[in-house]
Amino acid sequence: MRRGSLVQLVALGVVIGAAATVVALVVPWLPPNAAEERDGIDLVFWFTTAICIGIFSLVGSVILYSVVKFRVRPDDDTDGPPIHGHTGIEILWTAIPAILVTAISVISGIVLVQNDRPGKDNMNVDVLARQFAWTFTYPDHQNLTSSELRLPLGRSVELHFDAADVIHSFWVPEFGQKQDAVPGQDTKLVITPTKIGTYPVICTELCGLGHALMRTSAIVMTPAAFDAWVKKQGEALNAPPGQAGKAVFANNGCASCHTFEAAGATGKVGPDLDKLPAYAKQAGKPLEAFVKESIVDPNAYVQPGFPKGVMPPFNLPADQLDALVSFLTKGSK
Ligand code: CUA
Repeated sequence: MRRGSLVQLVALGVVIGAAATVVALVVPWLPPNAAEERDGIDLVFWFTTAICIGIFSLVGSVILYSVVKFRVRPDDDTDGPPIHGHTGIEILWTAIPAILVTAISVISGIVLVQNDRPGKDNMNVDVLARQFAWTFTYPDHQNLTSSELRLPLGRSVELHFDAADVIHSFWVPEFGQKQDAVPGQDTKLVITPTKIGTYPVICTELCGLGHALMRTSAIVMTPAAFDAWVKKQGEALNAPPGQAGKAVFANNGCASCHTFEAAGATGKVGPDLDKLPAYAKQAGKPLEAFVKESIVDPNAYVQPGFPKGVMPPFNLPADQLDALVSFLTKGSK
């Protein structure tokens, strides 16, 4: 190869690499960083991006150079020179990608092990994923439940996942790491929030009809605001049954599937709960028993026009179940 050609190739590669680097750095591809564990995930992302830019520059410069330099002249009908294989180059282009892919997996492995370590004084949250809602339970705080994930700023939190039906996957882009929720498996994810704010919780595993709607919020609060919330939730659950039932309704994500005026719920996946008395009559059962059965064993009677097997059974503590039944029977007309 002539020296001039090499200089031209390298110059082309530098230009292409610089352009790709500008696109990578100037466009804000990533969401804001709101957790300590995000740093490692971003490191893996940028490491992989740097490798991609390097390979893109190499391939782009060789292609551009060849297109310009070796293009067929008008009226040139001759065949190209017969070329067959080159063992040296083949070994090289197998070895280099193998090394790069190995490097990416080693870095990823180190980051994942580091991110799995809960910090000092860590708090636990049990996450139940079901078609199509998230429920968060706080075992360190009187077993409070919530349909939103509330976290105190700067405190390391270990999320323990379970799934009631099929595989779901928990993802808050601002926190970085994803984690599958698998029925019967205790999977974990450690999060240490670093920024106050409200972030989307997204299910990233196709889990059925309502997959796209399986969203809620992760709310990072000051430790004082979090403690105040814990106190208020505790009080709400100890309120008279009707009021407590409203909290149970909200905490279990009923609103994501059902319409119920008294709760301001407008979900359309399942039956309209304002019509419960009419449904009970159709089912031929007394209202209260019917409502209770529909929560504990939803498939015993499915309102015609709605798919069977969509609603999972809700195993609530007895006092919460009674409060919810009371709220649903008194609030519906
Ligand atoms: Cu749950 Cu997709």
